[in-house]
Amino acid sequence: MAESMKGMKRTHRCTEVSTANIGENVTLMGWVQKSRNKGGIIFVDLRDRTGIMQLIFENGSISEEGFEKAAKLRSEFVIAVTGVVEARSGAVNPNLKTGEIEVRANGLRILAEAETPPFPIEENSKTKEDLRLKYRFLDLRRPDIQRNLMMRSQITTLTRQFMAKEGFLEIETPMLTKSTPEGARDYLVPSRIHPGNFYALPQSPQLFKQLLMCSGYDRYIQIARCFRDEDLRADRQPEFTQIDMELSFVDEDDVIDVNERLLAYLFKEVLDVDVQLPIQRMTWQEAMDRFGSDKPDLRFGMELHDVSEVVKECEFVVFKNALENGGSVRGINAKGQGAMPRKKIDKLVDFAKDYGAKGLAYVAIHEDGSLKSSFGKFMKEEEMNALVQAMDGQPGDLLLFAADKNKVVWDVLGALRLELARQLDLLDNSVYRFVWITEFPLLEWSEEENRFKAMHHPFTMPMEEDLQYIDTDPGRVRAKAYDIVLNGTEIGGGSVRIHQNHIQEKMFEALGFTKEKAYEQFGFLLTAFKYGVPPHAGLAYGLDRLVMLMAKQDSIRDVIAFPKVKDASCLMSEAPNIVDEKQLEELGIQVREDVEK
Ligand code: AMO
Ligand code: AMP
Repeated sequence: MAESMKGMKRTHRCTEVSTANIGENVTLMGWVQKSRNKGGIIFVDLRDRTGIMQLIFENGSISEEGFEKAAKLRSEFVIAVTGVVEARSGAVNPNLKTGEIEVRANGLRILAEAETPPFPIEENSKTKEDLRLKYRFLDLRRPDIQRNLMMRSQITTLTRQFMAKEGFLEIETPMLTKSTPEGARDYLVPSRIHPGNFYALPQSPQLFKQLLMCSGYDRYIQIARCFRDEDLRADRQPEFTQIDMELSFVDEDDVIDVNERLLAYLFKEVLDVDVQLPIQRMTWQEAMDRFGSDKPDLRFGMELHDVSEVVKECEFVVFKNALENGGSVRGINAKGQGAMPRKKIDKLVDFAKDYGAKGLAYVAIHEDGSLKSSFGKFMKEEEMNALVQAMDGQPGDLLLFAADKNKVVWDVLGALRLELARQLDLLDNSVYRFVWITEFPLLEWSEEENRFKAMHHPFTMPMEEDLQYIDTDPGRVRAKAYDIVLNGTEIGGGSVRIHQNHIQEKMFEALGFTKEKAYEQFGFLLTAFKYGVPPHAGLAYGLDRLVMLMAKQDSIRDVIAFPKVKDASCLMSEAPNIVDEKQLEELGIQVREDVEK
């Protein structure tokens, strides 16, 4: 028997009521968190998106009929209550914002009854994520998720306000666009009117925002949905949201400046955290050498040491081979971990192998100064001593080494450094360490395609001083590209764009594009550039990642209302799914028999 709320109006949300309202009659609406019937008196916790209010139903304060209704209340019933705010008759609850007050009900309507939910609606749920995602509409009732989504809304609102003050215009760009296979894999949408033709969903508004610069809009911003058909991880979704911007008549420093002020503003307003400006900058090369990662987590040390010079004469074939093949030998010093049991070290070796290492060599320095090493028998005593010294090894330390091509060594030690930090509990998520990574390589070699690919995208400006190498040694050219990294997560990235024709042509040449192919893919942009293009630059944040870190969550799924799981499906709506034969027919599409099975 669901009642209507006709004639009733909500006066407050639960936690908007305070001791200042004592004696007032209020009307609250929400869900029953729990109810306790103590005979002549019934206590109900009422929940809305702001929190909890304790309600008291007692014969005498409410009609007999109302009391009987209250006795029927069960978890997740939706109710409307009127009552008088009072100081708590029982013990004050310091954990609740409304812990000093309660509402003595004098009217009750049951707006909707509810079945028992498949899991309790509570903070820090222990329910498996798959079940929660299947019933996401219930999961979204949980206070921690509600707080995350409210923070997300606050962040986008503040961003819009800040950027508007800075002269940015919010402009929408299309969702149905043209496939440009230079980035990740596209999501394709078949066209009914042009059978056999496909739109692509945008991986980012990149080309359109550059066109807007050509059209004179000067400063653009969009909270833009992006789509990438990639393998998913905790910080990746097939559809995600960017805070996307582009600016004309600017250089790298202008983009960095406005974004530092935006970040400082958001962190102050949302978290009351002061971001020290200017944010530290580090070149890509330095980040790789010191941390083995282009998104270094600066909350802890354990930096990499390049010991190639120190071990170059030794007889250990693993080291020798790596150096002979143009690679390096690098290590990290896990301070104070010299007594790590063998089993645990073996686990680290397996971990390293998951990241492409062929092995992980180690030296444990005992408290008495004696060494235990997996490769000691191949080293002369003075070589070992020199190595320990180069690593700043002290009694009680554990030294771990990887030898391989630079890229493998960086990947392995960069990941190992984070794993050790996790094991040693060095990652404090109330600390925020920002860093700009600059001077990225312009191009990266693709073994798969046997050609250079743009590390960022084909419109990224090379550094002027490196342009001279673009024909002879393209791998050496650095880009005017920058990423903003927070606590080891890339929260945003961007670049200065090429706006000179001759540089763009060189870039396409380096990427192995003919002029025809370049026009086929990016013709509208290249044509637009012929009609007067201002120098421009931009950046995009992964909004989901930014909110995840600000809300101190481990997964972006916890800050997205309806996320997808690892296999890119939605457990609630069961997308993707097969469609009607008729729909396919209209599109001129037939599913291959072997796929259908
Ligand atoms: P980029 O590809 O670096 O740059 O993307 C910008 C930011 O978006 C976030 N991001 C993601 N977040 C969640 N799931 C994903 N699958 C995902 N992929 C990326 C990251 C990243 O830093 N057009 C350029 C920006 C520019 O040059 O202006 C671009 O898209 O936080
Ligand atoms: P082995 O002689 O194969 O028993 O290797 C001796 C030690 O070197 C072991 O601890 C291996 O894990 C380690 N090792 C093997 N390959 C590498 C490598 N590429 N980098 C670092 N250590 C390695």
